[in-house]
Amino acid sequence: MAVDLLLGLQWGDEGKGKIVDVLTSKYNIIARFQGGPNAGHTLEFDGIKHVLHTIPSGIFHPEAINLVGNGVVIDPVIFSREMDNLSKFDLDFKKKLKISRKAHLILPTHRLLDAASEAAKGKAKIGSTLKGIGPTYMDKTGRNGIRVGDLELSDWKTKYRNLADKHEAMIGFYNVDVQYNLKELEAEFFEAIGALKSLEFIDSEEYLHQAQKDNKSILAEGAQGSLLDIDFGTYPFVTSSNTTAAGACTGLGVAPNQIGEVFGIFKAYTTRVGSGPFPTELFDKDGEKMAHVGREFGATTGRPRRCGWLDMVALKYAVQVNGVTQLIMMKADVLSGFKELKVCTAYNYRGKQVTHFPFNVEHENVTPVYTVFKGWEQDLTKLTKASELPEELNDYIQFIEKELEIPIKIVSVGPDRLQTINR
Ligand code: GDP
Ligand code: IMO
Ligand code: MG
Repeated sequence: MAVDLLLGLQWGDEGKGKIVDVLTSKYNIIARFQGGPNAGHTLEFDGIKHVLHTIPSGIFHPEAINLVGNGVVIDPVIFSREMDNLSKFDLDFKKKLKISRKAHLILPTHRLLDAASEAAKGKAKIGSTLKGIGPTYMDKTGRNGIRVGDLELSDWKTKYRNLADKHEAMIGFYNVDVQYNLKELEAEFFEAIGALKSLEFIDSEEYLHQAQKDNKSILAEGAQGSLLDIDFGTYPFVTSSNTTAAGACTGLGVAPNQIGEVFGIFKAYTTRVGSGPFPTELFDKDGEKMAHVGREFGATTGRPRRCGWLDMVALKYAVQVNGVTQLIMMKADVLSGFKELKVCTAYNYRGKQVTHFPFNVEHENVTPVYTVFKGWEQDLTKLTKASELPEELNDYIQFIEKELEIPIKIVSVGPDRLQTINR
């Protein structure tokens, strides 16, 4: 059976956690393929809200196996805290949660290096979540990292010490004020390694190949969004992994010809958290309204998210890079009550109108060209059927489908699992 993918088409926080949870009942295995605890995936059901960082969003389903793939970077401290937070749900982690031996570990000094690097950049900082993501992937590609499978070997602590000592020297090199007590951080780290070791470590690529042979259905869960991809995002204001479809192949060991549906998920508008260009960003009442109604605060850091109109130039680019086969539109309810809605359909880029996503999208190079749509007043949050959607929203949806030549199969009208409309 093919492996289906669900990934974000914007700058993250599209609502991946909610939809993976909604779709999980159709799958035997949910697998994260990249990123780490920089992610914050929110699920809501039965009046409770859950935010997951590294644990895949299928964890609440009674049957599904949740797998953390080789492409993910794991902070044992955050991971064990996540397990603790879920302890009241009596989940059998040993059975439900499996970790790739090839996944890399985020060390306490990776987090410190992240902080030092950001402090040294000053105003030019990336706006990282400070979870140590960049430094950990640097050690992975630099061939210095420590992997989950190393924890099963006797000499891993020597390897750890050498690497942590090197990191401390590097922190000194940045020459910025980063306060820390490594002894305390290490005590917490080693305790958390113990919790991680209570889980099953597996050769996840082999596990998934066998699962495919056994006709098990698999959904790969993306983190971040396509415009934060290390290659295709708004570099250098990106994360350090491939968030796009190809990342699922390298992050799980699934061959490209084994990919089935690619669910591309986007908000009915656009948000971004952290620094970097954002052509359709709003600094007016409309932007404030989106932020307020949409409760746009980062699920991991609590930072306010920047808000703006839907950007079709960026969306088309993301759809192409990912080979999206089905679209999922989130937070349509947030747009209720706007008199007019704008959609960016082209950029004025250095004096020329373009419809492709150019190399440089900083605001001094790009001015968005908008098409205006009529808004709707109706509250959408109680709707359950596509036939109940207001005409103006249908026009908005049909325009997007026509531009992208892909159907929007789900419209989300609220954070709860049940506020999900199939089309
Ligand atoms: P993820 O990182 O892609 O999983 O998304 P986040 O969880 O970081 O951010 C999405 C936020 O929007 C969360 O607070 C969700 O509970 C919320 N959310 C998801 N879908 C909807 C929706 O259709 N309407 C509204 N109003 N909120 C939603
Ligand atoms: P989910 O999976 C939104 C952003 C950070 C920063 C940049 C680099 O919840 O959609 P990093 O910590 O990776 O070095 O930060 O990427 N970022 C996210 N923005 N959602 C996320 O994840 C993000 N993960 C990282 O704000 O701008
Ligand atoms: Mg998020």
